[in-house]
Amino acid sequence: MRSRYLVTTAIPGLGLPLLREAGEVTILPEAPDYETLAALCASGDYDVVLTQLRDVIDAPLLARARIRGVSNFAVGYNNIDLDAATTGGVMVANTPGVLTDATADIALLLILGTARRVVEADRLVREGRFKGWAPELMLGSDVSGAVLGLAGFGRIARAVARRAIGFGLEVIFSPRPPGDRPVSNEELGEFAGRVRQVPWDELVKRSDFLSLHVPLTDRTRHLVDAAVLKRMKPEAILINTARGPVVDEAALVQALANGEIAGAGLDVFEDEPRLAVGLADLPNTVLLPHIGSATVAVRNEMARLSALNAIAIAEGRVPAHAVNPQSWT
Ligand code: DGY
Repeated sequence: MRSRYLVTTAIPGLGLPLLREAGEVTILPEAPDYETLAALCASGDYDVVLTQLRDVIDAPLLARARIRGVSNFAVGYNNIDLDAATTGGVMVANTPGVLTDATADIALLLILGTARRVVEADRLVREGRFKGWAPELMLGSDVSGAVLGLAGFGRIARAVARRAIGFGLEVIFSPRPPGDRPVSNEELGEFAGRVRQVPWDELVKRSDFLSLHVPLTDRTRHLVDAAVLKRMKPEAILINTARGPVVDEAALVQALANGEIAGAGLDVFEDEPRLAVGLADLPNTVLLPHIGSATVAVRNEMARLSALNAIAIAEGRVPAHAVNPQSWT
């Protein structure tokens, strides 16, 4: 029998041709709601589901599901209950590596864009309010010489560090906030002597730019809350290209409105696509629609990887990017 794939949202590039070559492909005409997706997963009509971040694959859905695996079109997989998948023998795979540089570029863009007020400046020009060069027009803050604090020191954080060093920033990091673990020089590799590990509390207090690079877990949900925002410098800028719920967005709006911190550059939001009340009214923010990985080449590569993961799972092989390979043992 040919493998059967359920694709919740069409993917670009080679993704669909690869799947069609390997089996029967059903692409949903629109993003499914939870009940629809749960019923499709329980139907027994599909071997593998190719999901997007907004597709919630939780324990109740997995308890009813008759599928071999889930191939997530993303590196993050916080939309999937991994423990429940593992217990239920459902293999989960993701797309790591290919979006590292694109996401780091967006983090740098947010650092530069918030520091130099690029959205406000663009709006001023478009709205006909530019009356000519002036000594105090749109003054921002310096990037070179500033302290960049990286919360997390995985692939994307390192790619941000590489860029930031080039821009003359001093880079400090905490590898696993809010906890700690020593990172040896050997593990630092090319960064040994060029970046410095500090405890989470010091990272919060010293950073001119605090950039988040942690996965969303129970430990990192609201890692940046009202108390953390109060400990940041008043001139500091928060950058989030990781996951929205890592920040208490309502507390962030308050902190920005009260001048507790100077600005925020966000590519992700707590309850996407909705924004916390008041966030969009604040001038000292740059807000992007979760486009960290949004380049043509990266999305094509994510599609190829997620299709290959799905095919491997359907054919009973552990995929190259299995998140829970132990689910089949
Ligand atoms: C991911 O892959 O986790 C990003 O958030 C979307 O590309």
